[in-house]
Amino acid sequence: MINLETQYAGLTLRNPIIIGSSGLTSSPDRNKEYEKAGAGAIVLKSLFEEQIEMQSTSLMSESYYPEATDYIREYVKANQVNDYLELIKKTKATCNIPVIASTNCYKADAWIDFARQMELAGADALELNVFYVDTDLAYDYDATRAMYVNIIRRVKETVRIPVIMKIGKFFSNIPALVHILKVNGADGAVLFNRCYRPDIDINTMQLVSGNVFSSHSDLGDTLRWTAIVSGKIPGISIASSTGIHEWEDVIKCLLAGASAVQMCSAVYTCGAEIITQVLTCVEEWMSHAKYESIAEFKGKLSYANSKNPGMYERAQFMKYFSNRD
Ligand SMILES: Cc1cc2nc3c(=O)[nH]c(=O)nc-3n(C[C@H](O)[C@H](O)[C@H](O)COP(=O)(O)O)c2cc1C
Repeated sequence: MINLETQYAGLTLRNPIIIGSSGLTSSPDRNKEYEKAGAGAIVLKSLFEEQIEMQSTSLMSESYYPEATDYIREYVKANQVNDYLELIKKTKATCNIPVIASTNCYKADAWIDFARQMELAGADALELNVFYVDTDLAYDYDATRAMYVNIIRRVKETVRIPVIMKIGKFFSNIPALVHILKVNGADGAVLFNRCYRPDIDINTMQLVSGNVFSSHSDLGDTLRWTAIVSGKIPGISIASSTGIHEWEDVIKCLLAGASAVQMCSAVYTCGAEIITQVLTCVEEWMSHAKYESIAEFKGKLSYANSKNPGMYERAQFMKYFSNRD
């Protein structure tokens, strides 16, 4: 009898497939469909700090009364927050699988109270999507790291539910960052967020949006860092994210040491059915390999357990090119 159950960041999931935070998870009815298709958990779309600030700023610019500034900011925030709390409550009322709330933030203070409200609304865990593009020439790595640590510390002091950090892959030392987040209370890490990509239309000479969806070729970085982080930080809960499009990708991430995986682009392009198909194939693979539980093979090929861990650290293509004509 095959059991797909997995432990992720203090949550018990019936299987390791999580629907990643995005517009996919912005409706309670659709979230129910993902549950019916077999999803192990759902991360609700994020509430963006930036989005609230932009909306407040635009309303403030239309106001004749400078003294209304604080009122407008608070009003916009309260409205957006209330809509979000409703999404949590309604999804919790319809779904039995864990519901993870998500916020995109970079200032701890702005979100402490909101984190508490999300917990009270019934969220089973909180995913903090801390991402912004820093282009300051006087960039200070320590200050950036301190910002991440401050956010996790403050949120952990405020809520009792598990708190997971979702990070981008553009850090010079990802294991060191995840380690310090864990030391400061993070219950898990999502590797990785995928940032917006700009493109240029050479006919209209305009800046345009690049492809929003990941491709299968993005999986390599996800696997590399899942294996290294899980191998170097015992007990860390990782959800691999970015480039997981097929059932084999799920197995690869689990072998690398992930506790769960998040799927987003594949669900956008193939619909909820892909969850059912992936789960069926994972079960078939386990049955064929004579595994009854995920724990039996999770991390078998992590940095700590692989016979050739140096493969995960290889940065150059020298061997590859020397073998090619
Ligand atoms: C259309 C779209 C909207 C997204 N919105 C969010 C969001 O609100 N919050 C968030 O943390 N990630 C968001 N993401 C990122 C996804 O959750 C995920 O991390 C990323 O797409 C990589 O996973 P994938 O390769 O399965 O697509 C979004 C992705 C897409 C494609």
